Amino acid sequence: MAIRKIVEIGDEKLRKRAKPVEKFDRRLKTLLEDMADTMYQAEGVGLAAPQVGILRRAVVIDTGEGLVELVNPELTSREGSESGPEGCLSVPGRSGLVSRPEKVTLRARDAQGEPMEITAEGFLARALSHELDHLEGILYIDIMEKELFPEDEEENSKEEETAQESPEGMTSKEEKA
Ligand code: NI
Repeated sequence: MAIRKIVEIGDEKLRKRAKPVEKFDRRLKTLLEDMADTMYQAEGVGLAAPQVGILRRAVVIDTGEGLVELVNPELTSREGSESGPEGCLSVPGRSGLVSRPEKVTLRARDAQGEPMEITAEGFLARALSHELDHLEGILYIDIMEKELFPEDEEENSKEEETAQESPEGMTSKEEKA
């Protein structure tokens, strides 16, 4: 188990396009394991390799239904659009409203290089979209409709019962990003 340092906004690595993974070797396996450890320790629901300073197309996600490791993920379809709150481990202390597809399908490889496909809706679709953006050097703050402040969130949680969590943690004050 190894916890890596999460790079934060201002670091240029968050702004670069990540390169495809070419070797499905021990090093990749270690990277994915470390990314999962780092995500869980930070109480996030997703982490992309650039967030630990590695410019490769690798992502880990766990929205409560088990760990998913995605290598070289590609979006193959998207449906619908839904606005919801998001935070990011690389943008601590902030959150915002972001419009994301309601449903996405991705093609990717697993840690061993085997092809896989994943279809996700709702919160998992949001988390996947957020992490895929990281691989392009895009942060949610670039595309958010508006910044959320604690007073907005109180209003939000009254209006939307589903708005309790967001990719990578924090929307409510109790949660840590
Ligand atoms: Ni993020």
